[in-house]
Amino acid sequence: MYSKKVMDHFMHPRNLGEIKNPDGVGPVGNPVCGDVMKLYIKVKKNKDKEIINEIKFQTLGCGSAIATSSMITELAKGKSLQQAQKITNQMVAKQLDGLPPEKMHCSNLAADALQKAIKDYQQSKK
Ligand code: FES
Repeated sequence: MYSKKVMDHFMHPRNLGEIKNPDGVGPVGNPVCGDVMKLYIKVKKNKDKEIINEIKFQTLGCGSAIATSSMITELAKGKSLQQAQKITNQMVAKQLDGLPPEKMHCSNLAADALQKAIKDYQQSKK
């Protein structure tokens, strides 16, 4: 029922772990199932742009939550904050060659955590 890409990211998650002294943190919980995740970012200034230089996640969740978190870190790494803000859970699911419909809610966790981490960084700058 899962695509090969989902299985690959689930079995070998990319950018798993914690960043010490992160610039932004996005802790989120899924109200449907109670699973949780935390996403950390480090931001680097490159001329007038702010780039996601480092990104890691920790999750206590199902296979879909792990696979989407892993994929979103790959999609967001090296992107400007503006580009990263446009990443949606549908984009992540597409990159994974799809998720079973009943598992789409799991992909919200990763997308929400990324947006929350970016907001956290922007607020801490003010
Ligand atoms: Fe909880 Fe997938 S069942 S995130």
